[in-house]
Amino acid sequence: MKLIEVQNYEEMSKVAAKTIIEQVHTKPNSVLGLATGGTPIGTYQHLIKDFTQNNTSFEKAISVNLDEYIGLEKDNPQSYNYYMKEQLFNHINIPENQTYLPFAKSIDDEEAGRNYEKLIESLGGIDMQILGIGENGHIGFNEPGTSFSSTTGIVKLTDSTREANARYFTKMEDVPTHAISMGISTIMKSRKIVLLVSGVKKAPVLNELFQAAVKEDLPASILKEHPDVTIIADQEALSILKENKGSVYS
Ligand code: PGA
Repeated sequence: MKLIEVQNYEEMSKVAAKTIIEQVHTKPNSVLGLATGGTPIGTYQHLIKDFTQNNTSFEKAISVNLDEYIGLEKDNPQSYNYYMKEQLFNHINIPENQTYLPFAKSIDDEEAGRNYEKLIESLGGIDMQILGIGENGHIGFNEPGTSFSSTTGIVKLTDSTREANARYFTKMEDVPTHAISMGISTIMKSRKIVLLVSGVKKAPVLNELFQAAVKEDLPASILKEHPDVTIIADQEALSILKENKGSVYS
């Protein structure tokens, strides 16, 4: 894993956007794996700014998102469909029919995961996957204990993930209990992976990621076995890791 140290959220967002822009310049029809949550919002803002100022075109790009809640309609402001439109798609020139998010009708909709796997395969796989990390080490919504061989499917959210995401909902009961998420093996098949980590709340898990062995209790630890992972982390996120003198960064 290659680590790029940046000062703060703003710089992380700029560097991440630059990485995506370079990818699209090199391969205009890139398949981009996109993420939601608080972390990539600044990255998307920089992509929009660059689109407006420099006309970087996403006309040929294709996007596949990591995950989506189950039980929220696509036009629900808390859905990731809505988030992606608001935060990115409505502001750049990616055609709507080239943007994909997984969707499951119910928690029994096993077909949904298989279909998403087939879709990604038919697109030729993911060129660059953007990831955040949960405070518990999840990637996508693959919670601790998920098999590294998991493929896209229905997942149950842990209490800690529901609590971390409750800030977007009026009350805790409204936070969905399940989601559909790209699996860990699906994520690992991406040709490049960019992990964004910002803020002091992520310092313990980033430290653990570098210190711990590869284990299913820490889903992100599998990234150590991927040949092309770049972590862009800010000083707050790196604070514990940097205190641990002698840590191996990569
Ligand atoms: P966050 O979520 O960007 O809102 O911190 C990251 C994640 O849970 O993967």
